[in-house]
Amino acid sequence: MRFLVTGGAGFIGSNFIRYILQLYPNYKVINLDCLTYAGNLKNLKDVEKNKNYKFIKGDIRNITLLKKLIKKIDILVNFAAQTHVDRSIKNSKEFIKTNIEGTWALLEVARLTKNLKLFVQISTDEVYGSIQEGSFIETDPLNPSSPYAASKAAADLLCNAYFVTYKVPTIIIRSTNNFGPHQFPEKIIPLFITNILENKKLPLYGDGLNTRNWIYVLDNVRAIDFLIHKGQAGEIYNVSSDEELTNLFITEMILKKFNLDSSWIKYVKDRAGHDRRYSIDSTKLRSLGWKPIYDFEKSLEATIYWYKKNIDLWKRLKRKKF
Ligand SMILES: NC(=O)c1ccc[n+]([C@@H]2O[C@H](COP(=O)([O-])OP(=O)(O)OC[C@H]3O[C@@H](n4cnc5c(N)ncnc54)[C@H](O)[C@@H]3O)[C@@H](O)[C@H]2O)c1
Repeated sequence: MRFLVTGGAGFIGSNFIRYILQLYPNYKVINLDCLTYAGNLKNLKDVEKNKNYKFIKGDIRNITLLKKLIKKIDILVNFAAQTHVDRSIKNSKEFIKTNIEGTWALLEVARLTKNLKLFVQISTDEVYGSIQEGSFIETDPLNPSSPYAASKAAADLLCNAYFVTYKVPTIIIRSTNNFGPHQFPEKIIPLFITNILENKKLPLYGDGLNTRNWIYVLDNVRAIDFLIHKGQAGEIYNVSSDEELTNLFITEMILKKFNLDSSWIKYVKDRAGHDRRYSIDSTKLRSLGWKPIYDFEKSLEATIYWYKKNIDLWKRLKRKKF
């Protein structure tokens, strides 16, 4: 099997590439990434010499380049995106360009090729918006709150339209919040771990009671691999773990792992339009035979260990961007 992975130098994409190359010695992976602030080739240092791996620096909106690459692959997995909600609130232009126009360019090229077996769109639970009780299923209407979530919702709708109109074999995968090694240190878990390592306070939004379902990145990567082999074109699949936690709970757990108390928390003004609770139901995926296997607390410990061991990897990035 030959993959084109876009955005593979980022957090989930790099974990996905490493997983695929380790699990399937015969699979080949091309990683197309334009290396924004969030893309870092050091995330894939350990596989860069693998004969089944090739990196190409380029933008997913470059149709000429995509036309060349699409001939060489069976499966396209689109991780490439602008991903940080706070950045989308400050300036959403790049989110429209990559998340909508970029997905459109990939779909346009995909519709002109005969050999593509699957187009996997990596989406997010944020497209459904906030829910007070219960959990969204795949057929629920989209109600995104942030420009980031709206741009991802638009990409999902484009994928669906290209499946219906042109029979592009799309699968949309909507996962909950990921955490784990190689995450850019602007999202809450790596930000708070690295802040502690730098002796800085932890800026917690609002009352800290915003609730998310948290999945270890390797469980999400397992789900994506599972769906590539067992999913059906034209379908949408939610991916979630069983861990619904408030930001405050996570913050206190991180502090506990460092033997620190809550005086390290600095409550800050809430994010505009901050969704209170995300929750999605992954029964559809689980009924096919997938379930999460990583324990939250142990995975958090593994994540803390990774950030302690890889200070060189994140310190320079953090200094440049904050
Ligand atoms: N991180 C999460 O918790 C989470 C949860 C659900 C869904 N997702 C989705 O998963 C995907 C990956 O998220 P992540 O957290 O790994 O993101 P990330 O920000 O760590 O990585 C994004 C990658 O895309 C690349 N990229 C951006 N614009 C590009 C372009 N125009 N052309 C080529 N490459 C480009 C960047 O250089 C970077 O390597 C995204 O689509 C995101 O919406 C993430």
